[in-house]
Amino acid sequence: MSFSVFFFFYFLISFLALPSTSACDRCVHKSKVSYFSSSSALSAGACGYGSMAIGFNGGGYEAAGNPALYRDGLGCGGCFQIRCTNRKICSSKGVKVVLTDTHQSSRSAFLLSRPAFLALGKQEIMKSGIVDVEYKRISCEYKNNLSVRVEESSQKPNNLVIKFLYQGGQTDIVAVDVAQVGSSDWRYMTRDHGRPVWNSSRVPPGALQMRLVVTGGYDGKWIWADKDVLPADWKLGSVYDSGLQITDIAQEACSPCDTDNWN
Ligand SMILES: *[C@@H]1O[C@H](CO)[C@@H](O)[C@H](O)[C@H]1NC(C)=O
Ligand SMILES: *[C@@H]1O[C@H](CO)[C@@H](O)[C@H](O)[C@H]1NC(C)=O
Repeated sequence: MSFSVFFFFYFLISFLALPSTSACDRCVHKSKVSYFSSSSALSAGACGYGSMAIGFNGGGYEAAGNPALYRDGLGCGGCFQIRCTNRKICSSKGVKVVLTDTHQSSRSAFLLSRPAFLALGKQEIMKSGIVDVEYKRISCEYKNNLSVRVEESSQKPNNLVIKFLYQGGQTDIVAVDVAQVGSSDWRYMTRDHGRPVWNSSRVPPGALQMRLVVTGGYDGKWIWADKDVLPADWKLGSVYDSGLQITDIAQEACSPCDTDNWN
């Protein structure tokens, strides 16, 4: 099955599963949140962003999500606002986090660093170690444009392995195509299982343009970088500006829908 046919059915099914009456930008989920006892746990992170994930929404925190949030790596880079529900010890604003890691604790949706956990409210919250929370996915906003990092496992000339950084909006990147600038011979890239990394072993020579499919609104949307994203001499470990940013919001289904800002 070709990629476009696959995504046609993928979006048709998502659309049918999502009655417009319950479509929502900001579904609120209830769960629990705990924190890492070790401060080093998040520094590497299963998503492999290192320090590059920070800088979103004016300085949020990094968080590890359970497998349902991590979604085999597709959930990497998603932004969330989390607040604990005990108003006596918790702030109404809570914290904003970007998902950079996963964890296997079945009790919590997210594991936070100690500073992020503390930022949920008063000092007392440390005593319990695990708190009831509500959370919602929010748009990621970066000063940077969506950027492409060429991973060290790439092998010139034809094996390209990339990761997206500074992914804005509230969407998933579900398909990536690459072509030589000026050509319409698009080659699709494949996402690794478990990581937000895309690769192709059939990359043409020369400067490269890219197009992506993101989940946006009720279905998929193409996003085109209409300039050369990678120069002909792309280098391992380098980060390239795509010249565009994603601002779309993919709808979730829930009722009632929470349109309030948590301030
Ligand atoms: C490319 O993707 C395939 C499919 O996920 C994977 O098996 C392979 O190891 C990847 N290659 C590189 C160099 O990452
Ligand atoms: C983002 O891309 C636009 C269009 O190419 C460019 O004008 C702008 O300088 C870029 N922004 C940053 C922060 O690099």
